[in-house]
Amino acid sequence: MDTPFLPLQDIFPIRTTVTDNSIRIAGHSLHKLAKDFKTPLYVYDAATVRENIRSIHSALADFYPGEASVSYAAKAYFSAKFCELISVEPVELDVVSFAEAQIALNHGFRADRIHIHGNNKSYEELTLAIENDFHAVVVDNFDEIEMVGEVAESLRKTARVWLRITPDMRVETHPHTETSARTSKFGFHVVNGDAENAIRRVEMQPNLNLTGLHFHLGSLLFDADVYVAAIEEIYKLVLRTGIHLKELSPGGGWGIRYTPETPKNPLENWIRPVANTIVGICRKHKLPLPKLSLESGRFISGRAGVALYTIGTVKEGLDGEIIAAVDGGMADNPRHALYAAAYSAAIVDNPNGEIAAEPVRIVGKFCESGDQLIAAAALPRPQFGQLLAIPASGAYQLSMASNYNLAPRPAALWLEENEPPTLLQHRENPEINSWWLT
Ligand SMILES: Cc1ncc(COP(=O)(O)O)c(C=O)c1O
Repeated sequence: MDTPFLPLQDIFPIRTTVTDNSIRIAGHSLHKLAKDFKTPLYVYDAATVRENIRSIHSALADFYPGEASVSYAAKAYFSAKFCELISVEPVELDVVSFAEAQIALNHGFRADRIHIHGNNKSYEELTLAIENDFHAVVVDNFDEIEMVGEVAESLRKTARVWLRITPDMRVETHPHTETSARTSKFGFHVVNGDAENAIRRVEMQPNLNLTGLHFHLGSLLFDADVYVAAIEEIYKLVLRTGIHLKELSPGGGWGIRYTPETPKNPLENWIRPVANTIVGICRKHKLPLPKLSLESGRFISGRAGVALYTIGTVKEGLDGEIIAAVDGGMADNPRHALYAAAYSAAIVDNPNGEIAAEPVRIVGKFCESGDQLIAAAALPRPQFGQLLAIPASGAYQLSMASNYNLAPRPAALWLEENEPPTLLQHRENPEINSWWLT
């Protein structure tokens, strides 16, 4: 019998149901998946990934009259199988390393759907991008202008280039995920004239074709005013330098909800002001509309993923809280340790149970006090052996996972309805495939 799953229904993937008091995703019993694949385990709801991509396109179609594209930021979560599965969707790809670029090329993405980021790209990475004619190399600094010019010349190619502009503004998020402040290591700052100089320098290089400008303000953002201000800065540069801006990429960063307390954050609140600002400026100055290229990671894969753990030991804390330890933690999900990230959780076989009077602290099994997943979860009193599901786990968890304490990285599954799960990445097996044994 299906029952409503409140209040976490909007945080879990869209195809989450509760049947006979146990959580299912896309019809798959989480209980059975955990038994078959062991925990920790990550599962991705295919429909949520697709719906997130679709909803960005739909908002772009509603608000932006020019050409537009959506890129998936591979750093949020990526594997060869995941790449293959999303390559059939209407997305381009933002990669940031040789391995991400190589996987993209080998698993479904044509080179002209890929652009490459990075503040310290190697010659190897630049060569791969330029010899394959990537959609763009997003140039970050003056050294790289020279390097891209050198590589393009030696390959007798013209490299398509976007410049990463840093509009020197603060955004409301954790400082570690702000990328556009005065102190940012990324891009060409506007305030000291570097951005303008970079444009002039690229224009003088015969093997570089400046096709776009890019900025990325930070991640987990809920306020579009900063995007509006950054677009205004970009157009001041365009007007000062007189360049023809064919493509404009305001990066990604739009936030998702990790807990029911976070207010809803509709996509429209991001895309409408971004689109209106570009259209308004272009009309005023009689400029052609650029292709608008959004670059979302967390928004596309975050809500699709759920982390599953088995609860082990349960203690009473000295301050009256219950401390429940799971069989994963900061090795598969360092976000709490890095950013004090907030999460919610549910007991898989008792999702709507009565919430314990005491707060429940979910900690991991690793040797550090910062190894915590949730500071105070609203949960029924956890019991040894129960399964715990943490939603909104699809972005910046497995992609940032480590082997701390020589923990094997978990498996991840892609879930379609009425189909067996597809393995996105296997659980590392210390006996056969781990670097620490060689
Ligand atoms: C350049 C760039 N673009 C896009 C993204 C994706 O951000 P998000 O996952 O918050 O959408 C990032 C993330 O750090 C980034 O650095």
